[in-house]
Amino acid sequence: MSVENKLRIYIQPLEKEDIDEVDEIARKAYGTHHWSKESFYSELQNKLAQYYIARNADGTLAGFAGYWCIIDEAHITTIAVAPEFTRRHIGEALLKAILDDCYQKKVKYLTLEVRESNIPAISMYEKYGFQAFGVRKGYYQDNNESALIMWTENIFWDKFKNKYEENITKLSGIIDIQ
Ligand SMILES: CC(C)(COP(=O)(O)OP(=O)(O)OC[C@H]1O[C@@H](n2cnc3c(N)ncnc32)[C@H](O)[C@@H]1OP(=O)(O)O)[C@@H](O)C(=O)NCCC(=O)NCCS
Repeated sequence: MSVENKLRIYIQPLEKEDIDEVDEIARKAYGTHHWSKESFYSELQNKLAQYYIARNADGTLAGFAGYWCIIDEAHITTIAVAPEFTRRHIGEALLKAILDDCYQKKVKYLTLEVRESNIPAISMYEKYGFQAFGVRKGYYQDNNESALIMWTENIFWDKFKNKYEENITKLSGIIDIQ
């Protein structure tokens, strides 16, 4: 793909002015089981949390993601891309923003819960070396679905880091992340 055709996205820290738009995407991406706006406002006060948004070149909000950092572990709390922007590597770009922070903060492990039927998300995490190491039975109250608990190995180990670098090299060839 030529440079001119590459989708350009801007990854920025979430600010309170973004929350109405984030809420719209959360409703579309997660359906009935999504965070309230108040949850996002309170997450902005959470010193352990960091949230990012992705905007495209015309300023449209395309996605958001965030995590909590607790000592040397990061827990990804949410990651969502607006349906009209999916499969354009924006989820990956948001995951990259989180992983880059983790490398900088010397976080060793990342974890998250994901619905066991959520193939797009599970596939994205697996692409980056997350593995399912457990199940929380009936974790999601809306339909009693179980959650897979996914973990990375130590992200500084060669196996994980090599895969990460290979993925982000490919990513930089297809999307322009600012
Ligand atoms: C999961 C989600 C964030 C992925 O975002 P996205 O921008 O569409 O994903 P990307 O284009 O970055 O894809 C990255 C990788 O994920 C996997 N993937 C993404 N969508 C997929 C799909 N529909 N089917 C299979 N694999 C998929 C692929 O491995 C893909 O890499 P590839 O393009 O080289 O095959 C998006 O589907 C979403 O917002 N889902 C609803 C909210 C949600 O479930 N969030 C996760 C909560 S744990």
